Amino acid sequence: MDEEIKRLKKEKDAIILAHNYQIPEVQDIADFVGDSLELARVSKKVKERTIVLCGVKFMAETAKVISPEKTVLLPEIDAGCPLADMADKERVVKMKEKYPDGWVVSYVNTTVEVKAVSDVCCTSGNAEKVVRNVPAKRVIFLPDKNLCWYVKKRVPEKDIICWDGYCFVHRQFTVEDVKKARQLYPFAEIIVHPECEPEVQELADGIYSTSGMLKRAKESKAKEFIIGTEEGLLHRLKRENPEKEFYSLGSARHCYNMKKTTIESVKKALEESRYEIVIPDEVIEKARKAIERMIEYV
Ligand code: 13P
Ligand code: SF4
Repeated sequence: MDEEIKRLKKEKDAIILAHNYQIPEVQDIADFVGDSLELARVSKKVKERTIVLCGVKFMAETAKVISPEKTVLLPEIDAGCPLADMADKERVVKMKEKYPDGWVVSYVNTTVEVKAVSDVCCTSGNAEKVVRNVPAKRVIFLPDKNLCWYVKKRVPEKDIICWDGYCFVHRQFTVEDVKKARQLYPFAEIIVHPECEPEVQELADGIYSTSGMLKRAKESKAKEFIIGTEEGLLHRLKRENPEKEFYSLGSARHCYNMKKTTIESVKKALEESRYEIVIPDEVIEKARKAIERMIEYV
């Protein structure tokens, strides 16, 4: 299968990009594996004509907005992100009307239509910097309320209104999980994603994006780590740090949308050029402004 995928990649002039939560087999055949910010950055630079994005829909849409001249394929068309679907364009426009002096800062976990009515985007890796640098005192931050809480705490000089969205995967980590982990592994470093609940973030040793966790695990002197994010990240953590131990906080939590993509669906995507992400030009143009501003503000 690996050989067949290599051959198809060459034939179709394609590159495979995968998110850190993808199943190990998909991560292993990918040309690049990263967090949302890294996937966006890489999409801008790729030379190949086709990008196969192994992740969820908003990630493929972001790649298309950044590189509209490329063909962007999402191997599983119904791999969505329930968090992204918690903000809709109509309600965002209403918020903008209510707070005309506010800047809408959208986490990349949003639909392309929401990005198109946003002032700037951010990822978990740069949300704090983006909010600090926007030229407005009032910020409407969407859709994740826990990431919003994280930013609010670090950027007290801004008046931040949080949307009411959440990630059902990260919401499952509890204070009890952290307390138990401390008892079981007293020397371990506990690192969690900013989509976790505030009480969980407060008890953790560090809060990072998925690639931020990879960086931290490499740099830290700790030998054991408790990871508060989707379990797919443990594959890279273990592979890149074979001398260290990694455990999921509580029990392993799965994002079923991220797990939909398989080697077979990647192969089908290449063979049949499916499922192509198509976005109207005017939406691409507007969404691109918000994504480009993100890059400008960090
Ligand atoms: P990262 O940008 O940290 O990889 O997060 C993406 C995501 O979907 C978290 O659930
Ligand atoms: Fe969306 Fe949560 Fe899955 Fe990330 S882990 S893709 S935020 S549902």
